[in-house]
Amino acid sequence: MSEITIRKATIKDAEKLRELRLRLLKHYPDVYGTSYQAQVKHGLEETVKEIENYSRFGSAIFVAADKDKLVGMCRIEPTEDTEVAYAGRMGVLPEYLGKGVGKLLFDHRLTWAREYGYKKLTAIVRKKNTRAVAFLAKQGLKIISEGNYRGVPEWNLEMKIER
Ligand SMILES: CC(C)(COP(=O)(O)OP(=O)(O)OC[C@H]1O[C@@H](n2cnc3c(N)ncnc32)[C@H](O)[C@@H]1OP(=O)(O)O)[C@@H](O)C(=O)NCCC(=O)NCCS
Repeated sequence: MSEITIRKATIKDAEKLRELRLRLLKHYPDVYGTSYQAQVKHGLEETVKEIENYSRFGSAIFVAADKDKLVGMCRIEPTEDTEVAYAGRMGVLPEYLGKGVGKLLFDHRLTWAREYGYKKLTAIVRKKNTRAVAFLAKQGLKIISEGNYRGVPEWNLEMKIER
């Protein structure tokens, strides 16, 4: 595999980020809280807004790039508790799965969260998404409780961010 770089998404990435997000939604229809059909209706301006929103304090969108191609993404955002961040929207294109891209994204986000001063990272994953549960467990997240979103059973996970 050629070299993958991880960086924060900027407005310049908007078009490619929108395409990536739509591909992820199409390929993994059962893992996110929204659908391809719902998101394809939104134009580029929504992605621009999202990047702007996630450039604010305590938030970020990270992308994995293989040269000019975006192949994965993840986000981080603040929660009501200023010491706790929510880690979401992780996805790697199917042809890049199992090659360490998810781990690169996760580690980058974790380092960023530590430097920012967050003390804990939380995530929510559908119970059926055993691949993501296994992935997150490997990164150090532990299941702390269960819940559901619109009737879909989910795990709530968290990890302490070591200094
Ligand atoms: C979850 C996801 C991001 C993992 O990305 P990835 O690039 O395939 O993961 P990596 O190759 O970096 O794997 C990192 C570690 O997780 C483990 N892992 C990955 N997929 C796994 C699976 N299906 N079962 C068990 N462990 C798995 C790997 O063994 C690896 O461990 P290692 O570092 O000891 O080798 C990817 O599967 C994905 O995009 N899934 C669809 C979208 C999704 O479910 N998003 C919600 C996730 S929170």
